[in-house]
Amino acid sequence: MVSAAPAKFSLPDFRKQILDWFRANARDLPWRLTREPYPIWVSEIMLQQTRVGAVREHYTRFMERFPSIVSLALAPEDEVLAAWSGLGYYRRARLLHGAARFIVREHQGCLPRTAEELHKLPGIGDYTAAAIASIAFNEPVAVVDGNVQRVIQRLFALSGAADSPSDSESPSIREYAQALLARRRPGDFNQAMMELGATVCLPKKPLCLSCPVERHCSTRGEHAVESRPPMRSRQIAYALVCRVCRGAAAAQEVMLERRSESASQMPGMWQLPEVDLLPDDEKRVELTLRHAITVTNYYVRVVRLSERESRRRLPARDPQRRWIKTSELGEMPLTGLARKVLQRLQVMPVLDFLPSQEG
Ligand code: ADE
Repeated sequence: MVSAAPAKFSLPDFRKQILDWFRANARDLPWRLTREPYPIWVSEIMLQQTRVGAVREHYTRFMERFPSIVSLALAPEDEVLAAWSGLGYYRRARLLHGAARFIVREHQGCLPRTAEELHKLPGIGDYTAAAIASIAFNEPVAVVDGNVQRVIQRLFALSGAADSPSDSESPSIREYAQALLARRRPGDFNQAMMELGATVCLPKKPLCLSCPVERHCSTRGEHAVESRPPMRSRQIAYALVCRVCRGAAAAQEVMLERRSESASQMPGMWQLPEVDLLPDDEKRVELTLRHAITVTNYYVRVVRLSERESRRRLPARDPQRRWIKTSELGEMPLTGLARKVLQRLQVMPVLDFLPSQEG
């Protein structure tokens, strides 16, 4: 049992105060309207490393498109990636899809009910397994994500990672989390701890005056948290090449290229062709923007090339290039950056996706 609590710490009070606060202050999020395992699973995978605001928009669309595990399992991978486009970290979508196929094949379409079994599925680590098991199946297992870790470090003036005690006598952050957990309402309690970290116990300027458990806290925010690594910068240029394809029905087309299957980021996804800018191109740049992918800020310039220029300027390289009808872009597994550029330049319509990180 945890021993390093502040003198005034009362476990029943702490649990009650954080649960009451969550009931009154929980953000209104679509996946909180249900305890069904499939929607909880999808939301927790989307929430890995991604802001709640970005997930909210994608989640609703994704669930409309794939309302059940079976519909997800039966879909071609490209359709799943297209529905994920803009959310980033596309490996998550591939693993989710692979896991849905596995569950339909091996578990009669039902998600396993314990964190231990969930953990065996592709794409589900400790924290996601604990979140799904506690929210959907009421298993009393604590979630420790970055937010919960910070809350606990501040409450008990601890340093270090989730599993490593600062000295061998002390409990780890995970052990603290497990000891704090309200056993009868593990799903609400875990979400309350995550929500507190995301909205009140902020990394830089914690809002201690709004904190429901401030009187239980040893540090009240006076506690060093690890700073993030600095962002790197990279310049990159893309060519926008459009044509009107005359046929029975004239159609506007745009040239895209497919990223290699072995690319470390966004393998197999479609983007605008990369181009080396010439000094003269500066005057014809149509769009400049910044796009963050994991720890890199990309400073992007887009130059429009005619079809003839593209034959000269775009080397006949390995990535498959294809003319894509602009009316079909919504169904393509585009990178988030390609989607952003094509929308800003009004080559494809703006849907209600929010920009986000990707990797
Ligand atoms: N972060 C990841 N999952 C979450 C959830 N269910 N509630 C709040 N924040 C989260």
